Amino acid sequence: MANEQRGFTSSLGAILAAAGGAVGLGNIWRYPYMLGQNGGGAFLIVNMFFVLLIGIPLMMTEFVIGRRAQSNVVGAYKKLGRKKGWGVIGYFSILAAVLIYAFYSVVAGWTLNYIVMACTNQLSGMTPAAIADTFSTFTSHSFWPVLFQLLFLILTAVVISLGVQKGIEKISKILMPLLFILLLLMVVRSLTLPGASEGLHFLFHPDFSKLSGAGVLNALGQSFFSLSLGVGAMVTYGSYIRKEDSLFKTSLWISVCDLMVAILAGVVIFPAVFSFGMDPAGGPQLVYVVLPNVFNSMPLGGLFAAVFFVLLGIAALTSTISLQEIVVAFMVEELHWSRRKSSIISMVLTFVVGAFCALSFGPIKHWTLFDKTIFDLFDLITASYLMPMLALATTIFLGWFYPKVEVKDEITNGGALNANLFELYYFILRFVAPIALLVILVSGIIG
Ligand code: TRP
Repeated sequence: MANEQRGFTSSLGAILAAAGGAVGLGNIWRYPYMLGQNGGGAFLIVNMFFVLLIGIPLMMTEFVIGRRAQSNVVGAYKKLGRKKGWGVIGYFSILAAVLIYAFYSVVAGWTLNYIVMACTNQLSGMTPAAIADTFSTFTSHSFWPVLFQLLFLILTAVVISLGVQKGIEKISKILMPLLFILLLLMVVRSLTLPGASEGLHFLFHPDFSKLSGAGVLNALGQSFFSLSLGVGAMVTYGSYIRKEDSLFKTSLWISVCDLMVAILAGVVIFPAVFSFGMDPAGGPQLVYVVLPNVFNSMPLGGLFAAVFFVLLGIAALTSTISLQEIVVAFMVEELHWSRRKSSIISMVLTFVVGAFCALSFGPIKHWTLFDKTIFDLFDLITASYLMPMLALATTIFLGWFYPKVEVKDEITNGGALNANLFELYYFILRFVAPIALLVILVSGIIG
């Protein structure tokens, strides 16, 4: 079958590659913090509900589009939309992917620097003030962040240029199990620290009184951002999923992996932070400033610091791979460039744009619009506007314009799979998901 040569060779390969795209930097510092701030277990329950209700159906929707069309994101909308201008969704997806990659690779580059520092034991023995100073000096430097960003882009491009099976699938099969092993190692370390239970309490105690309307909205937005929806990543990977694989099961497994990594990251971070009496700050500070202090106070801290940053690097790499693949698949199939040429050109393009993001913590931090630096602007434009808008356009396209029989045919693999859940899925696709996305969009615009 043509599609077997085109894409992933097994269901496991598909699940691990797409889970790699979903599990990212966001799982490790964003999710645990949100959980802690929004009533712990209460946020967890609401978030899981949204993942099931909206996240999984939206992922299936992207998979249906990619697998039906056997094509990259631009080609897929053009093909299924029969040239009625739907291709524009594809082009905006490419734009969103480049913008996300541009700022995401900055933080990925920081991680690379911290891997080097942790492995050469440079972080150990530093005072808390020195650790904070190291972070701000490094991120505002005019050369090093750009260099580390470039190194990360090159690393990603090397994997991409090896191809879907020999590059993406192969490395995901190695890195994702490794990520879980390292994460479990960290979980054991953290839970055996004195006073760990206080951190677990902060994380899991379901306090519904702390879950505000904004918290519920965060739980919704997070379920959607964390699964990497609305950028065409899952359309592209969907086109690589074998016809005999169930799109529902694949989406379910990916979501389970994504949630599990997010929750386990919280189990690593908060017991450790509380055990040493530190403040559970949010954002990059938590990972790059608070945690190095925590590692310095624990036995074998140097080793665990190295393990932790390698873990963070792996989570980032499998995500940057899925981001670049969106663009490379487009270049290969629509522009008919070789995979190697596409990898290099898209990497250079991302670097030209991304370097501005890297420098926006230092030399050009005064280049602002609406009080936001270039890095923050890219983050805002993609996460608050482009991703929800594109996901909304996707649901309208598949739910309201594309023939229902064809959707059903793709989801049931031509009638071979059980179709019990199909009507429920289709209802969510047409009504529930678009409304939820509109709510995210409007609340993002209002601020
Ligand atoms: N899901 C990723 C994370 O949690 C972030 C992300 C959003 C992403 N959209 C994406 C990654 C598209 C790859 C492709 O960190």
